[in-house]
Amino acid sequence: MSREDLVTLGGKMDGVEVIYSEQPVRPGSPAERRAERQVAAAFAGAGLSALAFMVIFVAWPWQVETPGGGYDLSALYTPLLGLMMGLALTLVGVGVVLWAKKLMPYEVTVQDRHEGASPEIERQTTAATLVAVGNATGIARRTLVKRSLGFGGLMLGLMAVFPLGGLIKKPGTALFETPWEPGMRLLTLGGLPIRPADMRPGALQTVFPPVEGGARSSDGVAMLIRLLPNQVDEFRPRPGQEDFHWNDFVAYSKICTHAGCPVSLYEQETARILCPCHQSQFVATDGARSIFGPASRSLPQLAVEVDADGYFVAKSDFIEPIGPAFWERST
Ligand code: FES
Repeated sequence: MSREDLVTLGGKMDGVEVIYSEQPVRPGSPAERRAERQVAAAFAGAGLSALAFMVIFVAWPWQVETPGGGYDLSALYTPLLGLMMGLALTLVGVGVVLWAKKLMPYEVTVQDRHEGASPEIERQTTAATLVAVGNATGIARRTLVKRSLGFGGLMLGLMAVFPLGGLIKKPGTALFETPWEPGMRLLTLGGLPIRPADMRPGALQTVFPPVEGGARSSDGVAMLIRLLPNQVDEFRPRPGQEDFHWNDFVAYSKICTHAGCPVSLYEQETARILCPCHQSQFVATDGARSIFGPASRSLPQLAVEVDADGYFVAKSDFIEPIGPAFWERST
């Protein structure tokens, strides 16, 4: 039995009644070819708009310096991207509507519902009907529409994933450096330098590097801790960092090595630093070694000393990356 026969049989068996059926254009007529060209133009236009979106995304100058206050092309970057994406999506919609209105047959049918699973013959006739419906769209024989639809679909798909490229950025040395430099004073939240006498034994002070504009550095933030007198003898610096502390003062990064939360709780009796996010604990007298929780690395230590005016200064930047692990940090 041919597919057409199966479709007819399936309709009868299912009690499908065709109320109305009409071909919008006669197959092979000039009107059909004109409609095909309109649909193909809409899909091709969508593909070209999507292509233009990708070209602009890559090639348009989006960071242009115009010292003389001249016309800045970068101001058009986002509007052009939006325009091209909007145009691509609109033209796809236009193509689909034109296709449905001018090329696909109109048909109204009604069918009674039945209960339970359908027998095998009904499944076969349903499959044949679905294929016939696909054929009725004319996509198989309308090469122009098929190609333009393929082009438009491919470009739209690429356009959808293309902006993800903007998320890929070389970090450079940003993950290895913070603003700390030799001789930089340690500043409080209020921007004041700190002297040893400002902190009592057991105290913790959050400190920042003096960066431009007074902004507080999120990666340079550190904790200056004054150990209790009985903890000074227990202090065990990490190898190679024996001179990073100054008398009974130690400074560690405030960024947790697990997921980057600010470690902000300090228990002076046990010299334990606690991260409130997932309860990692670090020991200030043991090079901020992690002894509990998900953090597996010690907090990086900032080498500090006191300058000629009596204020705490950094001796250098951190010598290891601060914060959570990443691909190049293995210790
Ligand atoms: S971020 Fe500190 S324990 Fe998770």
